[in-house]
Amino acid sequence: MSVCVEARALLRGRVMPVTLVIENGVVIESWFGNSCPPGYEKFSFTREGLVLLPGLIDLHVHLRGLNQSYKEDEYTGTAAAAAGGYTGVVDMPNTYPKINTLSTLRSKVKAYEDKALVNYGIHVGVPVERAYELLRSPVVMGLKIYPYDLYNAESVREASRAAGMLGKPVIVHCEHPAAIREGCRAGERWICRGLEAEKLCLREVQRLIDPQAHVHVTHATSPELVYGARSLGFTVDTCPHYFMLSSDDERKLGCLGKVNPPLRPRSIADKMLELVVDGGVDALVSDHAPHTVEEKNMGFDICPAGMTGLEAYSRIMLDLALRGLIRLELMVKLMSTGPARILGIRRYGCIENGCRANYTIINIKKGGVIRPCLFYSKAKYSPFEGYRHRGDIEATIVNGLPIYLDGELIPENRLPVPLGEWTCSLRRRLWVLDSETR
Ligand code: NCD
Ligand code: ZN
Repeated sequence: MSVCVEARALLRGRVMPVTLVIENGVVIESWFGNSCPPGYEKFSFTREGLVLLPGLIDLHVHLRGLNQSYKEDEYTGTAAAAAGGYTGVVDMPNTYPKINTLSTLRSKVKAYEDKALVNYGIHVGVPVERAYELLRSPVVMGLKIYPYDLYNAESVREASRAAGMLGKPVIVHCEHPAAIREGCRAGERWICRGLEAEKLCLREVQRLIDPQAHVHVTHATSPELVYGARSLGFTVDTCPHYFMLSSDDERKLGCLGKVNPPLRPRSIADKMLELVVDGGVDALVSDHAPHTVEEKNMGFDICPAGMTGLEAYSRIMLDLALRGLIRLELMVKLMSTGPARILGIRRYGCIENGCRANYTIINIKKGGVIRPCLFYSKAKYSPFEGYRHRGDIEATIVNGLPIYLDGELIPENRLPVPLGEWTCSLRRRLWVLDSETR
């Protein structure tokens, strides 16, 4: 199937008119200027204010499914992703049942094949049954280590060895369980799960994770963890809530502000913002972790931790960019090219011949308000309810076709594939370390 896209693309800091001819999701020809030849299905994004960016990728989401489909499933989760401009998402294994066996992986893959609107991948969890075999699957992008897995040293060693051999990253939620306490009141969870937990975790990670494996520290909340991780050659991401919100918001919001790791005091959040704006992290992730409204309405002690982010965070980042707080190119690096590098995905969202035609089209002339009641996600709540943003997501193009356009999903255009089909595993580790993001 051949399509032709006309748009204005952000290229080396400038917006240039381009024409892309796409066949089976891959660019087969492109040139400057807007001039689609006749005979193609044409999509035109040439209106004033529209800018084509490489497709956003979120390497840390929880789309639930399986026995937790009442919280979110592969359709609603990827619909939320598409509405947020994400062309690819990587799902976490803390589902019920957990993704650490071939049979749960198979059920998950079937659900993506049947329902996903955007490209997908999954990180498997420990202890992994037949680690090498499971990690070899093109749907599997990496291995996820949770705090309590650090007590399961042998499983972490064995699974990370397999990840290292296959060139797939080990994604670490870096809080040492020995330094985690429960029972803190709203506004004070940062005391129960302090920076000490992050520091202790880094030490343990060095001891347990196979040195051949690339370590990626996810949702870092403090500059100390970012610097510590980077000094060890690890890549690092954070989430917008760790610099847009603080423990004061946790106090005000109650369970809507409850997340793991917890929100930090404003002084730390401000330093995180500075670090992000200076290009000090490798990626931004949402850690979209949906629960039901009823669950989030339970008492602060017992309600589940987790925020929603897929439909708010790209808009909030775009708003920061259009207000001049972060460079648009850096936003693209943190939300598209950076995650692609960490995951080892090649030629994604570029416009040259051979590139995978996944693009996010933003509208810098439009604006909007975050309205959780309109989310495609089942989790219709957000600490950012009412946030007014400059700019908006105009369209999400997945493998050549718009799956989201001007506020509406177009499910009949779904052509999702596993992100792992485009990775280059043998050279991946070196490639990540050599990249200019280091
Ligand atoms: C995660 C979830 O709900 O899956 N919640 C969160 O606050 N990030 C699980 C977790 O990381 O504890
Ligand atoms: Zn998470």
